Amino acid sequence: MQRSWRLDADKLTFITCQPISTANLNAESDSPSNMIGDINLFLRIDDGADGLSPPEIVGEIELMIAEKNNQRRGFGKAALLAFMKYIAERQGLICGEFLGSLDEEMKGKLEGRGEKFACLSVKIGKENERSLKLFEGLRFVKVEEEPNFFGEFELRRMDLGVEGAMKEAGIEGYKEVVYERKE
Ligand SMILES: CC(C)(COP(=O)(O)OP(=O)(O)OC[C@H]1O[C@@H](n2cnc3c(N)ncnc32)[C@H](O)[C@@H]1OP(=O)(O)O)[C@@H](O)C(=O)NCCC(=O)NCCS
Repeated sequence: MQRSWRLDADKLTFITCQPISTANLNAESDSPSNMIGDINLFLRIDDGADGLSPPEIVGEIELMIAEKNNQRRGFGKAALLAFMKYIAERQGLICGEFLGSLDEEMKGKLEGRGEKFACLSVKIGKENERSLKLFEGLRFVKVEEEPNFFGEFELRRMDLGVEGAMKEAGIEGYKEVVYERKE
C-alpha cells in the first residue's frame, strides 16, 4: 500500500498495490499495472440528522479492490486493517489538521472534545453482502436496522483499536519505507 496524495485536511487516500516484499521495493512497485484498488478516509462534522446534536468528528472510510480477479484474496481486509492501524496511530495529527481547517465558530463548538474521532463510519449498499460481512466482521455496527433513502446502511465503529483483529487475520502490520519514485 502506497501513500498517494495527502493534500487536503479532510481527506486521506492510499492506493493499494500488489503485495511485495519491502526488500524488493522499487520505483515500479506502484506503477499502474501493480495497482489493485484504493482506500480513503473523509473527515466530516456530524451534528445529527436534525443538526441539533453536539458536533463531533466522523471519519468515513471508502474501500475498493477493483478487479474481480483480485477480490476474495484477502487484499480488501488487509488494506482495511492496515489503514485503520495507520489512522489509530495518527489520530491526533489527522484530526488536528482537520480542526485547523475549520472556521472559528466550529472550532469553538468542538473545543474540549479533543483531537479525536467520535467514530469511524462506512456506507454500504444494502445488496453488498461481501462488504457488509467484511466491516461487520471488524466490529462495525449498523446505525439503523433499515437502509436509508439511498438504499445504504451506515455502519459505525466507536473504537479505533485493531490489534486483536490483525492478529486474528494473521496480518503483522505495516512498515513505512521511503523510496525513489519515477514521475
Ligand atoms: C468489498 C471489497 C472491498 C472486499 O475486498 P476483498 O479483497 O474482495 O475481500 P477479502 O478477500 O479481503 O475478504 C474480506 C472479508 O470479506 C468477506 N467476504 C469476502 N468474500 C465474500 C463472499 N463471497 N461472500 C461473503 N463475504 C465475503 C469475508 O467476511 C472476508 O473476511 P474473512 O476472510 O475473515 O472471511 C471488494 O469486494 C470491493 O472492492 N467491492 C466493490 C466496492 C465496495 O463494495 N466497497 C465497499 C464499500 S466502502
